[in-house]
Amino acid sequence: MSSKKVSWGLFSLLIVAILVLSACGPAAKTPVATKSTEVEVFSWWVGPGEADGLAAMVKIFNTEYPGVKFVNAAVTGGAGTNAKAVLATRLAANDAPDSWQAHAGQETIATYVTPGQVKPLDDLFASTGFDKVLPKTLLPLISQNGHPYSVPVNIHRSNVLWYNPKVLSAAGVTANPKTDFKTLDDFFAACEKIKAAGKICLSLGAPWTAIHLFENIMIGTIGADKWNGMWTTPPTTDWAGADVTAGIANFAKALSYTNSDASTMSDWQPASKMMVDGDAAFNIMGDWAYGYFANPAPNGLALKPHVDFDWAVAPGTYGIFNFLSDSFVLPTGAKHPDATIDWLTVAASKAGQEAFNPLKGSICARTDCNQALFSEYSQDAAKDWTSNVVVGSLMHGVVAAPAWSTSIGTAISLFQADTSKTADFQAALVAACKADGTCK
Ligand code: GAL
Repeated sequence: MSSKKVSWGLFSLLIVAILVLSACGPAAKTPVATKSTEVEVFSWWVGPGEADGLAAMVKIFNTEYPGVKFVNAAVTGGAGTNAKAVLATRLAANDAPDSWQAHAGQETIATYVTPGQVKPLDDLFASTGFDKVLPKTLLPLISQNGHPYSVPVNIHRSNVLWYNPKVLSAAGVTANPKTDFKTLDDFFAACEKIKAAGKICLSLGAPWTAIHLFENIMIGTIGADKWNGMWTTPPTTDWAGADVTAGIANFAKALSYTNSDASTMSDWQPASKMMVDGDAAFNIMGDWAYGYFANPAPNGLALKPHVDFDWAVAPGTYGIFNFLSDSFVLPTGAKHPDATIDWLTVAASKAGQEAFNPLKGSICARTDCNQALFSEYSQDAAKDWTSNVVVGSLMHGVVAAPAWSTSIGTAISLFQADTSKTADFQAALVAACKADGTCK
């Protein structure tokens, strides 16, 4: 073997070694992408009537993604009163959960999209076909500059008047809530009878439920167009004007028929329970209450629709669907982005939504769910969603940014303490609108 041949052989070996090493090189430097093994999902679905739907969707998730552990980071407290504060603290500390519950509308846009806390989901919407089935009303409420930023899982109705038929008939109320409460005065006439019979007319719970009541009394007084006009920039309904004054007068009257211990109640459930227990005739609450009334024990009360409880829309709101929608987001800098996409894929899916919504009392945020899986109540709601005039909820994040709705909530709490101060209350509402920048 000549030395020339040897050195040529060595040279070839060297070349091969360099090629092999350079092929391996990048892989050695970049860690091999491993699939996340968990996803932490943050919501406020803990209590009775809240947890069942989430559990059903998690079951679907576990079947479809057995390698990913679902970590339930739910924080108790209806309407997210505690949860949102906890979430804000976590976000400020750079400790974002992998996904969290956010209401479609101003809550998502002002709190999470504008400050860049969440990522656009165009790819997920396209790859799952969610963009084809999401109701058109919802798209602008989760979008900025044409990009969607959250996955809506449901549509809830805020303006539901739940009632106890036995209490009504025992008090001699002959008016039918489904057809005869065209105005607030029609409703107040029934309240007089109920009061005379020694019962509470309208049960009310923890402070946030007063904001929920306020929005529905205001809509019942001024109607859909003027309600919408309170939230346009600039508002076409004058916050200092006679329409809002009339809504405030009706709100004061409605409060006069509520239980005096409302502000000490822990949440919405005790107030809804007062009604089904026969201590109160009516309760105005979103249709998550349906899950609480009808779901099996221990989370539900396993009650019979039309017998133990019944429903109509809030007085004065026939033909109006006051809505809200829960959605989930993909944080910027998520700890487990691929598992978050898995979660959002289930949240967007037909199977996920068909498991979740029948137990949650909501309807799907998809146009193709099988209605046979839903209760009579939800089937009614689904029909109304497509045929009624749809307006957005204040308490549940649709029409106002959180800072504005918090100021309105503070004004409502003060007013609850002394309902004779109607002018002060209206002035506080005007100030809140100005502070938001919507009113001049
Ligand atoms: C709403 C939420 C509903 C329900 C309700 C009571 O804000 O959108 O899903 O959980 O609060 O907690």
